[in-house]
Amino acid sequence: MKIELTSKATRGDIALFAYEGASAPLGLTPAQGKALMALAAEDGFSGKDKELVVIRPGAPGEIAGTVPQRVFLVGLGPKKSFTAETLRQRIAALVKHAGSLKKTGLDLLLPGPKDIRFGTDVAVQAVTEAAQLVSYQFLKYKAAPKEPTKELEILTIVLPERRLLNDKLKRLVADTEAACAGVRYSRNLTNEPANVKTPEQIGEWARELAVPGRITVKVHHKPEIEKMGMGGLLSVAAGSDQPPVFLHLSYEPKAAKKTIVLVGKGLTFDSGGLNIKTGTFMNNMKDDMSGGAAVLGFFHALRTVNLPVKVHGLVPLTENMSGGKAMKVGDVLKAHNGKTIEVLNTDAEGRLILADALAFGAALKPDLMIDMATLTGACVVALGPQVTGALGTAQKVIDKLIELGKSTGESFWQLPLYESYREWGKSKVADINNIGKPGQGGTIFAGLFLQEFVGDTPWVHLDIAGTALTEDEKGYLTAGGTGVPIRTLFALLKGF
Ligand code: BES
Ligand code: MN
Ligand code: ZN
Repeated sequence: MKIELTSKATRGDIALFAYEGASAPLGLTPAQGKALMALAAEDGFSGKDKELVVIRPGAPGEIAGTVPQRVFLVGLGPKKSFTAETLRQRIAALVKHAGSLKKTGLDLLLPGPKDIRFGTDVAVQAVTEAAQLVSYQFLKYKAAPKEPTKELEILTIVLPERRLLNDKLKRLVADTEAACAGVRYSRNLTNEPANVKTPEQIGEWARELAVPGRITVKVHHKPEIEKMGMGGLLSVAAGSDQPPVFLHLSYEPKAAKKTIVLVGKGLTFDSGGLNIKTGTFMNNMKDDMSGGAAVLGFFHALRTVNLPVKVHGLVPLTENMSGGKAMKVGDVLKAHNGKTIEVLNTDAEGRLILADALAFGAALKPDLMIDMATLTGACVVALGPQVTGALGTAQKVIDKLIELGKSTGESFWQLPLYESYREWGKSKVADINNIGKPGQGGTIFAGLFLQEFVGDTPWVHLDIAGTALTEDEKGYLTAGGTGVPIRTLFALLKGF
């Protein structure tokens, strides 16, 4: 869907917002707004959050430069609890509703700087994100419906003051559109079935992200992975007929001084291996490459969005299966940095492939390394399906992610790298074992395990086991892959 910025409405349909109990919609004088509110009140509208009515004002006079036929009035709830995330959810509902009424275009009068507690830029970004993400669907494998679902094609953001319209804001819309295209790309990858998105296939798709002079994509196949000594990735892949792949993408603008490494877990299917997952625990395990999908979605956006930093993206890709050559309990493997690992549970495989990728990333000597992984069921137990776990040594970055999450709507919460649990990783035969104390502090131990492979690189680990996928639709978070935490990463690295 297209997003436009203007300072003057032109269409016959306009969306207006109102706080709970307000005497007029935002941006209208009490004289203009009173009659509208009275009409809306007849349909039960009082400005409560989630209220949405469509009214025909009769003779409303001019609003934002146009005389509208219809007004979509959106309730925002109480002013004091109104956030960018509330706005995103209200826009998502508005766009869906307008689509269901077969509207192709809609004007929207944005609340002015005096009416909201966040900037016009944050509001414009939130509107763009919601509009661009709510219409996402994964229909590749479904027969075309007899009647295609109607969608709004263009949303025009009408700024409440002319002076707010500038090139910076237009750039922000373009960048946000690119970030959202990255989110949709990442959702597609997560939603693809495992029989299609084999490691080699994802490698082929990733190759298409290359942009000469801007983004390079290296696809390392099994023989090179062997040469690189990536014993973790090779051991996990051993039980599958699909060979592993290691992706290395890079974006290196000349003027940039700082280097960031992004690492994403790329398990295209996690059966558990010989410690096979039972019952329903194997459901959704095609999503176990969502960290890798986030890295690729981020690079998808980097094709057009400029960042002031160099970025490397590393994605180890493999299946975790239980074929005849599968890694066994008690096996010892050697990671890329030479450390040996005793495998005490083949289902704790994500950390094994991340060990190689993190060690590879640390050797690039970055200023910051962030890994994203659907790593532990324990994180879902601790934080539920809407909060990403954050652990690591780059404390300021963790603080910043938590702060940024409040406006991006992607929530983060920190768990400690609690030092005395490190001894749970002792092994009689190797440098470290891969499970710690079964059933206890699983997310924290996984973090401590990963830390063994980052050296002294400032590092953050994001456990997205709960947030990578949503089973039920939640507004602009459509069912399936979510694309978390791509939008927050952009917010972070724009200011890094
Ligand atoms: N991919 C899973 C983690 C997971 C669980 C992601 C649920 C999303 C939803 C991971 O590989 C795994 O199996 N972890 C084990 C570790 C244990 C064996 C130490 C777990 O969490 O049970
Ligand atoms: Mn597993
Ligand atoms: Zn896994």
